[in-house]
Amino acid sequence: MSKAAIIENIKARRIFDSRGSEAIEIDVMGSGGSGRSSAPSGASKGRWEVKSYPDGGVTQALRVVKELIAPELIGVSVDDPKTVDVKLHGMDPSPDFSRIGGNTAYAVSLASATAGAVSRAMQLFEHLSAAGSYSLPYPLGNTIGGGLHAKGDRTDIQEFLVLPTSSKSFAQAAAANIRTHKEVSRLIENNGVNLAGRGDEGAWVAPLKTEEALEILTKACRTVSDETGVELRVGADMAASTLWSEKANEYLYQRDNRRLDEGDQIEFVLELIKKFKLAYVEDPLNEESFESFSELTGKVKGTLICGDDLFTTNIKRLERGAKEKSGNAIIIKPNQVGTLSDSFATARFAQQEGYVPVFSHRSGESCGNEIAHLAIALGAPVIKLGVLGGERIAKINELIRIEELLGEKAGMANIGI
Ligand code: PGA
Ligand code: ZN
Repeated sequence: MSKAAIIENIKARRIFDSRGSEAIEIDVMGSGGSGRSSAPSGASKGRWEVKSYPDGGVTQALRVVKELIAPELIGVSVDDPKTVDVKLHGMDPSPDFSRIGGNTAYAVSLASATAGAVSRAMQLFEHLSAAGSYSLPYPLGNTIGGGLHAKGDRTDIQEFLVLPTSSKSFAQAAAANIRTHKEVSRLIENNGVNLAGRGDEGAWVAPLKTEEALEILTKACRTVSDETGVELRVGADMAASTLWSEKANEYLYQRDNRRLDEGDQIEFVLELIKKFKLAYVEDPLNEESFESFSELTGKVKGTLICGDDLFTTNIKRLERGAKEKSGNAIIIKPNQVGTLSDSFATARFAQQEGYVPVFSHRSGESCGNEIAHLAIALGAPVIKLGVLGGERIAKINELIRIEELLGEKAGMANIGI
């Protein structure tokens, strides 16, 4: 047996994410090599996410790393990624990671795992999974964006997404998404609508009604499918908690001029699924509506009904969802729960229960590419990454490299829809 690689030092610094917000970056210096990671941040966060940072924000998080986390972790082995994660929970047993912050925990967890991979001279995905056989996920890309990810004249719905469902390779699927994104802008301008630029995730911002945006995206998918041979379908992240008004007990669509109660919202989503053959709908209902999610899921076939704010990568929330059959897919954003082990536990439980795990970026991203490795390690059939923007492309390009590295051994995953 070779000697265990241990942590020799940990350093934290303040950096910025793609939105220009402060973020934490962690260096883990190990006896077998080093790892560096940062954490992303959300704008439309779920109510049940852990706290990103302790009170006092990044400044306090830097202090916590120096005074608590580094002294506790120096000397700890990085051979098994779980060891560090268990220690992090020991340092902060609160259910919402409020003492050290979920972003702090995630960046430490990920940087330690990276140091572990370096010490074993392995790729991060191999270090995290002994599977031996891997498949490439399909990239779910944001083409038109509104809601909390954009300002000014925009759509009510947060994200209009393109999802390749059949492709020879990841690289071809990613290229098809980029062409669709371009075609969407051409069609918007052809319709005489002004593009207001791009939102936080690189999607086009335009004053379109929900069905107008879906029509444009459907058309673009058809054109690019015909050109490339990659099968493309349409999806949406409705981020419905941001449309929901507790006071009015209704979902409010300002641009659409629509007010819907819970039952009407379910009917509206069903109509959209049917009319646009939606392959994917994320958060179609408010984050507390387990029952309505279950009603909707029972009424559709061949569509992923995905919970993001509903589950917040939290295994307890997913246990309830699995019992009630709420949704059939789950967004996995590791910093919603804090450590790699926690997010993998939720994702593995999802697979056991027949849910499709969708590894996901956040609207405020780092330029790191680790989620590409996390999705491969887990065998997630879909990864949500955006289409354009340096911080999104960094992850897409890493998947292209991994595809090349795996060569013949890897094929595309099966989404199962
Ligand atoms: P975020 O959400 O802004 O919290 O990252 C993106 C999403 O809802 O998927
Ligand atoms: Zn979402």
